[in-house]
Amino acid sequence: AKSGYDHYMKKEIHEQPRAIRQCLRGRVDELEGHIALEEVAALEPEGTVQFVACGTSYHAARYGARLLRQRGVQTQSFLASEYTADAVPVSDETLVVGVTQSGETADTMRALREANGAGATTLALTNTVGSSAARECDHVCYIRAGPEIGVAATKTFASQQVALALVAGALTGDASPAFLKALRELPDQVQTILDSSRAREIADAYVDADAYFFIGRGDAAPVALEGALKMKEITYKHAEGFAAGELKHGPLALVSGETPVFAILTEGSKLEKTLGNVKEVEAREAPVVAVTDAPEKVGRYADHVLEVPSSHPQLTPVLANVQLQLVSYWVANRLGRSIDKPRNLAKSVTVE
Ligand code: M6R
Repeated sequence: AKSGYDHYMKKEIHEQPRAIRQCLRGRVDELEGHIALEEVAALEPEGTVQFVACGTSYHAARYGARLLRQRGVQTQSFLASEYTADAVPVSDETLVVGVTQSGETADTMRALREANGAGATTLALTNTVGSSAARECDHVCYIRAGPEIGVAATKTFASQQVALALVAGALTGDASPAFLKALRELPDQVQTILDSSRAREIADAYVDADAYFFIGRGDAAPVALEGALKMKEITYKHAEGFAAGELKHGPLALVSGETPVFAILTEGSKLEKTLGNVKEVEAREAPVVAVTDAPEKVGRYADHVLEVPSSHPQLTPVLANVQLQLVSYWVANRLGRSIDKPRNLAKSVTVE
């Protein structure tokens, strides 16, 4: 069932080009210049769009919320376990989007039920046909990633990001030709990364570190959080992700020559500013790995570069994440961890 791969996680990382292609199929009309997403066609959100989700899906939600906000929509993102419809103002103009791969996560289900009870319109963004979330919500949009066996979410995260990019374009009618073209090119670009990544070398170089940091700004900030989550869950090592500007407000105290810092420096994520933060960690002698589509600009500030193809600035975070998945995978592999079923974790969390 692993089709020759050592782990489901690796297989699923490598299935991402296909997963993204499936997510896009029939939904992007480049000739007409629009996104045809029937699932949300009836929705014209007048009020705020609220996102509720947990873990990796929450990181996708944060990313999707940014794409909508950049198209003029008011958004809020909540960890589902922190969402209570009575403390968060909800009206019949509110659209609540539950982002949940399994469609069964108890925290997310509770948030969606409360939102429904409070009169909001609800949309489930899920991978699982007929799941609790699909049944609970007024509308459902499938991410079409195919089954994911590894506990660590990989291809479903990529598909959530792409589906959310489609939702943002479809809800607002704001999808430029460059954005649509970049969506079409994503699967091949992910394949290029899979074929040429140097993540394994980086993992070998830093497998002994006790802690890893991930920083990114703007649209890349949620991917920094996701990079750290993946690293901690499958390697059992301390890892933290931050919006790059937050480093100096506390976490910088933890940075030393022993803590590799992965900096997402992609065009469109204010890379000049993030470079300022890179210089701060370098002054503390931390090794820096730049994940970038602009190696000529940032290469000299980094000890290593993990390159991603250039894309639309709102979509490069999808590509950057693939490099970080591979680094975590190879660190965990070197450490002989139980990659597909990390200790203490379950694929679907059905308790609150
Ligand atoms: O099925 P869901 O997307 O609702 O799951 C939410 C989280 O439990 C999940 O994303 C978790 O963080 C990942 N499996 C971690 O890789």
